[in-house]
Amino acid sequence: FDRTPLIAGNWKMNMDHVQGITLLQKLAWTLSDAKHDYSRVEAAVFPPFTDLRGVQTLVQGDELDIAYGGQDLSQFDSGAYTGDISGQFLNKLGCKYVLVGHSERRTIHAESDEVLNAKVKAAYRHNVIPVLCVGEGLEIRQAGTHVQHTLDQLRADVEGLTAEQAAELVVAYEPVWAIGTGEVAGPEDAQEMCAAIRAELTELFDADVAAKVRLLYGGSVKASNAAAILKERDVDGVLVGGASLDPAEFANIVRFES
Ligand code: G3H
Repeated sequence: FDRTPLIAGNWKMNMDHVQGITLLQKLAWTLSDAKHDYSRVEAAVFPPFTDLRGVQTLVQGDELDIAYGGQDLSQFDSGAYTGDISGQFLNKLGCKYVLVGHSERRTIHAESDEVLNAKVKAAYRHNVIPVLCVGEGLEIRQAGTHVQHTLDQLRADVEGLTAEQAAELVVAYEPVWAIGTGEVAGPEDAQEMCAAIRAELTELFDADVAAKVRLLYGGSVKASNAAAILKERDVDGVLVGGASLDPAEFANIVRFES
């Protein structure tokens, strides 16, 4: 099945609005110098909220083919929710995607699967595609229950979606023990989990939906290990943290085929 690979860069709480624009400009120049074919491999960045307006201006002004999205959204549409950002605002800023349930949101902000399910639905309400992050911590990996744990998260977070919505979904498998630690899950670990996620999506929806959903791996991805991970059958992209802050390194991940 033809699933366009998605290389996504999560800047986390790095890059202010000036640094972010410089980073994106450098990335765009590098990819254009390399004559990158965006129809073969899609590139997306997830800047802090305060950079999104500048990113939109640059992307639209220079007609860049780079997609972008928010790192989180509120489960509500508008109202008295101080500090929160609505999917509606993200949509108006041209966001194609939004991260939902990154492990840093799950742990630091104690986001439950119930809240994340509401956030996934909020994203669809505002025509923004959720990149749903799931994955286990070290203790669960060591106990050997990582597949069950991750599938439990998935089931709870996509509950109530229509097949049409689910077919658009992107799921990022991020073993928490491999995030920012330099520890990379092996390509076979990424494949094992992505295959399990696809099988679960077949159960929950149908084989056609499962074949359309793009599954990403995240956790210490660099230019030097990306190609091996992306070769795996069920891995359709990567979600990159630290290495996405270096435009040359990130461009090399986007160009993993060359
Ligand atoms: O969203 C990205 C992941 O948390 C991975 O971060 O590449 O710095 O390990 P990392």
